[in-house]
Amino acid sequence: MPYSDREGERPSYRVSDDAAETTKENRRLAMLADLRDRRSAAYLEQLGLTAGWRCLDVGSGGGALAQWMARQVAPGGSVLSTDIDLRFQPEGSGNIEVRRHDIVHEDLPENEFDLVHARALLQTIDQRETVLDKLVRTTKPGGWIVVNDPEWSTFERQPMPPAFRALYDAMMAIGQKANGYDRYWGGRLLAAFGERGLLEIQCDGDAHAMRGGTESAEWLILAYERAAPLLIQAALVDQATVDAGLREARRPEFLIMGPTSMVCRGRKPGAGYWK
Ligand SMILES: C[S@@+](CC[C@H](N)C(=O)[O-])C[C@H]1O[C@@H](n2cnc3c(N)ncnc32)[C@H](O)[C@@H]1O
Repeated sequence: MPYSDREGERPSYRVSDDAAETTKENRRLAMLADLRDRRSAAYLEQLGLTAGWRCLDVGSGGGALAQWMARQVAPGGSVLSTDIDLRFQPEGSGNIEVRRHDIVHEDLPENEFDLVHARALLQTIDQRETVLDKLVRTTKPGGWIVVNDPEWSTFERQPMPPAFRALYDAMMAIGQKANGYDRYWGGRLLAAFGERGLLEIQCDGDAHAMRGGTESAEWLILAYERAAPLLIQAALVDQATVDAGLREARRPEFLIMGPTSMVCRGRKPGAGYWK
């Protein structure tokens, strides 16, 4: 069931309501949080995230990072954690509000937040440029915008088992066609921040090895496993290729570099910047 059937528009992706699917997505989001939250937290601490800040985490998934932010900004600060799909995070409490919100079609207040954060979101959204404009508008003058998305060009150039590569190609093709997924968006972030006149821009990339049978690879393999019926239905791969690709990627000998995770930050100019 897509989120939007507006004519000519590619909708945000949605995990089905099937219990096995939602369990897999819960596991996958927890893995993503395990793998990435420490780095995200260190990055935000370096920016000076502290008591009193008003923060927004958009497309917050399992919500673990938003909860961490809420602890950092207490007392006096608060966090708005939004996602189009709230099935995977706890309800809001204390200084954290959890709100169902579609960042493509719904508005946000102007000049509201000291920090606006979006991780692994804009890559998946066809309207990413207008969404980034929206994130800038909702940031206070002097506030920070932090966007973190992967870039897959190094990943796809390395040697990998053939059935796994076929799965990767099929996933990228269906994501692009159905939702407008952009595998190179992480590499566009720096320019996108520059084009918006943001100040004190910085962009860093890092990548980690993915080893079969561990979380370092499983966060990706689970997504492929979940999407397999769609890939087969679209005649992008057959069942034998899916089985072989998943088997290859779960062997302990499977060892490849993960995608480059690009994190870009910038400050909104205007009154308040020099405070
Ligand atoms: C790959 S997950 C990343 C979750 C989290 N930010 C993280 O890094 O762990 C992408 C999230 O974006 C959400 N999402 C997709 N389209 C959205 C939209 N139009 N508005 C708000 N959230 C959206 C999904 O529901 C999902 O939770």
